[in-house]
Parts: sequence; C-alpha cells; structure tokens
Amino acid sequence: MAADLSPIDKAKFVAAKRAVEFVEDGMKLGLGTGSTAAWMVRCLAERMREEGIRVTGVPTSSRTAELARQLGIPITTLDEAKWLDLTIDGADEFDGQLALIKGGGGALLQEKIVATASDQMIVITDPAKEVVQLGTFPLPIEVIPFGWQTTKALVEETLVSMDVLGRTATLRMNGDRAFITDEGNYIVDLHLQRIGNPRQLSLVINQIPGVVENGLFIDICDIVVIGHGNGRVEVRDINKGTSEEETIEFADTDNIFADLGD
Ligand code: A5P
Repeated sequence: MAADLSPIDKAKFVAAKRAVEFVEDGMKLGLGTGSTAAWMVRCLAERMREEGIRVTGVPTSSRTAELARQLGIPITTLDEAKWLDLTIDGADEFDGQLALIKGGGGALLQEKIVATASDQMIVITDPAKEVVQLGTFPLPIEVIPFGWQTTKALVEETLVSMDVLGRTATLRMNGDRAFITDEGNYIVDLHLQRIGNPRQLSLVINQIPGVVENGLFIDICDIVVIGHGNGRVEVRDINKGTSEEETIEFADTDNIFADLGD
C-alpha cells in the first residue's frame, strides 16, 4: 500500500511519522489541519495503538476533530486543556527563520491560537514549501463578514505602504459562495508575491478593524520536519541551531494505511 503513495504523499507521511516521535506519554497536543497534518493524526493513532501511549488532542478544525474521533484519539477543547505541550501542524510556506504562511486550508485562526498556547510547535512539510522569502503563497487573512468589503479595501490601502510586491486581495470562495471558516468568518487572500518584512506586515494588518487574524506565524514554530519522497527526513531545530537527517523505511504492514479514507 505504501508503494502506491505518490512521492508527495510519501514525503508528507515520513515527515508526520518522524514528528510524532516527539510525542510523549501523557502529553496534551495541538492537532493541526491539512493533508500533512492528517498524516500526523494517523501516525499518532498508530503510536497509541502500537505503544499504548495516551495523549489528549486539541484539534484546530472541525475536519481534524472528525478524523481524530474516527481514529479513537481523545480530544478536548483548548479551554479545557488550557496549555499544551506540543502542536504539530502543516504549513504553506516556511523560511530560514521558520516564519510561516498558514491558512491555505482556512483554519489559520484556531491554528494560531493553539500553536501559541503550546510549549513547542513542530511543522511538518515537504521540501517544496521552503522559500527564501515568504509571499509566493497568497497570505490568508480571516475577516469578520460584517463590512468585509470595507475591511478588504482598508487592507489594500494599507498594503500600499508595505514592503510587498503584489497588492491584490481576493475573497476566498467555496463554489459560488464565500468560504466560511469554523469561526463563521471569511478569508481574504493577499497575493503579495514577496513579503519584505513579515513581522511588520503581521502587526499592521492585525490593526485593521474587521481583521481577526492573519496567516503569518512568526517566532511560533520551533522545529520543522521536512519529508522527502524517498523516505529521507530532515529535522531542523531553530532554537538549538541543529539540522539532522535520517531515512524512514516504508513498511507496507503499517496499520496506518488501513485508515486511509479521507
Ligand atoms: C490549514 O489552514 C493550513 O494552515 C495548513 O496547515 C496548510 O495549508 C498546509 O496544508 P497541507 O498540509 O494540506 O499542504
């Protein structure tokens, strides 16, 4: 079954498998959202089955909550858990400082709250998401539906004085309707091409009334685990300044492949 996976899925799988090795018995975990994070949830369930470790998960979206429930991972709310040991999540882009763009799946608000409430955040990714400068991937911002067009106009006006290359803002759609987040808000995607100063941009955008949060994660991620299609995995730790590599074997007997379905 593992042999049937595409190189990109193999890359995501090995990144996820390596990342869940950081999980320890009894931990409270933030469970990210997206296709890479879904592999992590499956690998976590596998470790719980195989090794009998117990964890409590705080999902960052209704999708992840549903997957965790299906796989028998106990979940709770952030209010109940209060503080987490570790969050493992995907990203849309990351740079050399492990600054991230997130929110391609529309879950950036819960993802940012959960990651910020964690002792450590690990990002799992494939190599294609590494960039020298953030901004090729459109930056999502979550906005309140009330007056969203005014908010979007204010954001576009603000971008004029920012160190970015593109300034187009588009409302994210789901078919012929606006995409609605788990918090009942809209997403506006900013097509910036290049973000010269992510920290400044994040602060300024969040000052605009109607903007709830933006998809820039700065000084939040501690470790990035980069999976490759051939099983090679790199683990970069920004705090320790280390970079390690290993190769993970694909075992067709892994029960995880029986869980595939979403
Ligand atoms: C979800 O809102 C995003 O932040 C995801 O973490 C991000 O889009 C990565 O998703 P994939 O793992 O599917 O690429």
